[in-house]
Amino acid sequence: MVKVSDCGADIMYDANKIRNDFPILAKKINNRQIYYLDTSASAQKPFCVIDKMHYIYTEAYANPHRGSYYFADAITTEFEKARQTVAEFINARESREIIFTRNATEAINLVASSWGKDNLRSGDEVLISEAEHHANLVPWQQICLATGAKLVVTPVDDNGNFLEDEFIQRLSSKTKMVAITAMSNVLGTVFPIEQITEQAHKAGAKVLIDACQFAVHNHIDVQNIKCDFLAFSAHKTYGPSGVGALYGKAELLQKMPPYQFGGDMIDNVTYERTTFADIPARFEAGTPASVQAIGMAEGLRYMTNLGLANIMAHEKELTQYTLMRLKQVPNLKIVGQAKNRGGVFSFAIADIHPQDIAFILNKENVFIRTGHHCAQPIVNRMGYTSLARASLGLYSTTEDIDALVEALLKAEKFFREN
Ligand code: ALA
Repeated sequence: MVKVSDCGADIMYDANKIRNDFPILAKKINNRQIYYLDTSASAQKPFCVIDKMHYIYTEAYANPHRGSYYFADAITTEFEKARQTVAEFINARESREIIFTRNATEAINLVASSWGKDNLRSGDEVLISEAEHHANLVPWQQICLATGAKLVVTPVDDNGNFLEDEFIQRLSSKTKMVAITAMSNVLGTVFPIEQITEQAHKAGAKVLIDACQFAVHNHIDVQNIKCDFLAFSAHKTYGPSGVGALYGKAELLQKMPPYQFGGDMIDNVTYERTTFADIPARFEAGTPASVQAIGMAEGLRYMTNLGLANIMAHEKELTQYTLMRLKQVPNLKIVGQAKNRGGVFSFAIADIHPQDIAFILNKENVFIRTGHHCAQPIVNRMGYTSLARASLGLYSTTEDIDALVEALLKAEKFFREN
């Protein structure tokens, strides 16, 4: 166990104690404990995030960047400090390389739309993996349709492993963008993003990493990855919903046209024409989700204080435990068994509908997600239309997994016998 500080001050990394930082995890439903196993969909929030947002609304709220009175100054300072915290979390060179967006989806749409319109032509290719979330598939598909570029898909194997040879075969001088997830939200596969980036750059392509799932469980260093763009959401990294971040190399962002138009992103406006502000303001039209961005920074600070290495070690151990325990459920098939994987477990039990499994689990206060997980193509490619999925967070414990397995055993028995 390792000493950590600040939000959860001076405790050792012990998920059972860390849970006390998350008020919702103490909630009882029907007088019984709850088991939250849906962090991949959205993480729960620690007190420090909730308290910080409450503090801003009660002590320091106004519209940032627009006034010079006390509250306007206070929130502008906090908002820009939040940008610096996000930059430090992913080791960006400068805070202006961080654009606050509504979520990771908007961050990817921004790049697909702005960079894509300027850089994609008929005959060009955008390379994605078979395991992309719709957020890193549909924006590229649509910009390809609009520009005449081609969307190329690199496969995973039946266990969900990334296939490097297949990827390299699909890379060519036509590839202008490689847009790839760092961790699949369905299969749990962790993709070798450093090698992917290196190969893509050799072919002359730019690289965008969808780090939505990866950021929840792993240390990110964009200077080490060398990617051109990276997107992630606050609501998965223990912050509020409604805000996400796009990292982009300054020299690329500076060349890109604005994605949306309006207040705060301009330099000079007349009825005839407008000149635009420098980055990051150029991409943040309108009143930003300032309090959410400040909450986002607080969630990242919380993770940093716990220690990314500690979070990773805890989840690695719990992933092994979960895989071992899930094997004890008769007729359960884990969909996604890549060698390099994280704590996301999609599964099917015989031909029981995942919705029915989730219904029984809900009665036991075990909360999981079901459906196509906003990634229909990969769910279909694995042979399903819908899957059940349990996922881990930094507060997950063996007790959560034991409750999951007990409830699954109950569900499996019930459907087998009825
Ligand atoms: N992308 C989120 C998930 O996988 C919503 O559940």
